[in-house]
Amino acid sequence: MYDVLIIGGGPGGYIAAERAGQAGLKVVLFEKNSLGGVCLNEGCIPSKALLNSSKLYSHAKDSSAFGVTSENVSFDQSKVVKRKKKVVRKLVAGIGQTMKSHDVELVYAPAQIESAADSFSVVADGKSYTGKHLIIATGSEAMLPPIEGVREHLGSTVLTNREILDLEEIPERLVVIGGGVIGLEMACYYHTIGSEVDVVEMLDHIAGNVDPEIGKRLQEVYEKQGMRFHLNAKVMSVSGGDVTFEKDGETHTVTADKILLSTGRRPVIEGFGLEKLGVAVERGAIIVNDKCETSVPGVYAVGDVVGGAMLAHVAYREGEVAVNNILNIEDRMTTAAIPSVIYTAPEVAWVGKTEQEMVTLGREVEVVELPMAFSGRYVAETERGNGICRLVLDAENNTLAGVHMMCQYASEIILACGVMIEEEMTLDEMKRIIFPHPTVGEIVREALFKI
Ligand code: NAI
Repeated sequence: MYDVLIIGGGPGGYIAAERAGQAGLKVVLFEKNSLGGVCLNEGCIPSKALLNSSKLYSHAKDSSAFGVTSENVSFDQSKVVKRKKKVVRKLVAGIGQTMKSHDVELVYAPAQIESAADSFSVVADGKSYTGKHLIIATGSEAMLPPIEGVREHLGSTVLTNREILDLEEIPERLVVIGGGVIGLEMACYYHTIGSEVDVVEMLDHIAGNVDPEIGKRLQEVYEKQGMRFHLNAKVMSVSGGDVTFEKDGETHTVTADKILLSTGRRPVIEGFGLEKLGVAVERGAIIVNDKCETSVPGVYAVGDVVGGAMLAHVAYREGEVAVNNILNIEDRMTTAAIPSVIYTAPEVAWVGKTEQEMVTLGREVEVVELPMAFSGRYVAETERGNGICRLVLDAENNTLAGVHMMCQYASEIILACGVMIEEEMTLDEMKRIIFPHPTVGEIVREALFKI
């Protein structure tokens, strides 16, 4: 009898397995593909490997303002993809090693939930496993919108986040359907390495729930470089390389060699016998409380399968919360300070609430917006930058409600802001923090003193 059965070896599942193993529990982890899930194999990590190559390429091509000129700069996409695969292999192997060192039993096979009487029973590879607790970490999959022609062309001209990472040739023209996080990161990559890019987005803005001012600036940066955005645009059909959409009552068609479908993801709740447990599900996601408990005692769910913020770092934390509760250690998920990052160039990162969200909640706010030129290092390292940092202060409590930034290193800087929010630090406490100088992150300190 195992203490914990875990279905799914992505960030939620493998961290849960690692922590449970560390705590001395007897754990089995079922994974039908490769450890690391979407994040490691076809999401966060491979996209960052590609984006780093495109960043190096753009620096190599255009650094004359910094006194650096270079000739005959070229980009070898197949080498970049090869390196990306090496990075993924290395990290996947690392997780395997970690599982081993914590005595986690790994079963590389699809798991099927069989029963849930006094304990839970899962069958994989013809063998039955019983456990006292069950953690479901089955993740999410790309959502295919009901657009005519999408299914027929899937895998040929129409690609999802999976196939777009493996293209050996740079498409001359790329159309991205959906200007959210995946869409923008891939649009940024392919545009930087030479594709003509059109982004077709249903909403009146890109980048989802990003601070509107920052979303607008990011769009401006890309438009200046030649990327085209079609907002308020409803895609009607895809035929070969043609994407037809409706905008302002008119029909338009853009033509591409490849089309990226990045219109969101949905939790995977089918195909592994979830119905046998009778856990409560709402709008396609498993319902959990802040201890990651489902409606069935002993069954936990973590990661994308519970919906909400489908982010690897949220899954990590949920995995830990579930294991701590299995161990009877008091632990709950908190969501006030979940950072979000878009790894475009420039990067966009934010944590906490936007001004608009605070106003909608009827909260009193004070907002400081500073151009990044207030950071010495930013000025030293940037030409033609239009980065900004916006601080949203909860004026009633004198604490930080949100930080929103667009600049290089934003992904690294946002961590400190998350701590300030999570710890509910007061303005005076935050002002006493010593920031290293010169750093781009000092912008936060500058902004705090403008309040
Ligand atoms: P998303 O939800 O971020 O964006 C989808 C976009 O597609 C939305 O703006 C939506 O309005 C638009 N859309 C939907 N249907 C459409 C249609 N028929 N025509 C035109 N536009 C349409 O989803 P995305 O980019 O696919 O990412 C999926 C998940 O992966 C997200 O939850 C995201 O948080 C996560 N992710 C996170 C990353 C990061 O943290 N850097 C990187 C990549 C993905």
